[in-house]
Amino acid sequence: MTLLVTGIGELTTLDEARTSGTDPLGLLADAAVVVEDDGAVAWVGAASDAPAADEVLDVDGRAVLPAFVDSHTHLVFAGDRAAEFEARMAGTPYDGGGIATTVAATAAAGDDELRALLAVRVAELRAQGTGAVEIKSGYGLDLAAETRLLRLAAEVTDEVTFLGAHVVPPAYAGRREEYVALVTGPMLAAATPYARWADVFCEPGSAHAFDGDESRTVLEAARDAGLGLRVHGGQLGPGPGVRLAVELGAAAVDHCTYLTDADVDALAGSDTVATLLPGVEFSTRSPYPDARGLLDAGVSIAVATDCNPGTCSSSSMPFVIALAVREMGLTPAEAVRAATLGGATALRRPDLGRVTVGARPGLTVLDAPSYRHLAYRPGVPLARTLSATLPALPGGRS
Ligand code: NIG
Ligand code: FE
Repeated sequence: MTLLVTGIGELTTLDEARTSGTDPLGLLADAAVVVEDDGAVAWVGAASDAPAADEVLDVDGRAVLPAFVDSHTHLVFAGDRAAEFEARMAGTPYDGGGIATTVAATAAAGDDELRALLAVRVAELRAQGTGAVEIKSGYGLDLAAETRLLRLAAEVTDEVTFLGAHVVPPAYAGRREEYVALVTGPMLAAATPYARWADVFCEPGSAHAFDGDESRTVLEAARDAGLGLRVHGGQLGPGPGVRLAVELGAAAVDHCTYLTDADVDALAGSDTVATLLPGVEFSTRSPYPDARGLLDAGVSIAVATDCNPGTCSSSSMPFVIALAVREMGLTPAEAVRAATLGGATALRRPDLGRVTVGARPGLTVLDAPSYRHLAYRPGVPLARTLSATLPALPGGRS
């Protein structure tokens, strides 16, 4: 069974054979795509040249993109921290201490409740154009609880990240090295059947997170256990997280709110993606990182939501794209690229984030004629993953 999606007014391909300095998205006007049953792209080209297919969907001049790749989320949790957000807006800074609140609420929830909460969040992502999502543990912080969160995450995505080293739980106060030993020993062993990645909240200035030496211990153990590496670095202040990520060959270092010149140099000479999470700066009233400067320095970047109950409770990639343009100096095209191909690169998934033959990106349709509308019309629900029936686009093929 094949599906021909035709009538695409503007197709963002991200095909490197089509992209250029002036067209970072590899745009194709009046395009069509043929997709196989399993989501694999079988053909891309001008609508007038399209081959026959079993089914045809005419999107009536809309813009189509590879589905967004949300390469950083913490979607498995119970409870919310809206009161913490309210206090923060009144001036209380974020320091990671609220994570304990979510750990307690999550512990009190049964598997079915967590599964249902997760399903709602995944549906929320999909309804906003996201086709692939990375999900971290980190609200368990003991062996059984972390394993449970990883098992539930693995039910909905292949991109599961073990974040036992999220914070040191209060029960280990004064015994930090014992918690690091638990994370790198029994927890890591229990995580490997479910997780592809391991992550650490590296933030030496925080009483809750991990310093550079502890982070190195966690990351080296995870690497030796065969997991790929990711790092939360430079969120609350400059620190060793970025250079550690580069040194250890991490696929991504995420946040990068605070970067030194040495961090930028290290990133620019590496394969480590800097994943920017502007929903966090928005929701914690923090300064935005200079994405423009990173791109100009030659750093590979992605943008993601970080959807979590503490620092960014939004699941919206379009919101992130709008912030990246308005607050971080990216062009609309660069922001869309970072939300698609950038996320795919951060997850080392060449099959995502591009509409090329053989890739399986999922397609996102906009109720708009161009990708530009994602940043131009913030807060308007334009993006959704492709469905079989679409209402007519007012104004036709404008
Ligand atoms: O990516 N910084 C660490 N972890 C999350 C926040 C977790 C929370 O506050 O619940 C983040 O911002
Ligand atoms: Fe995070």
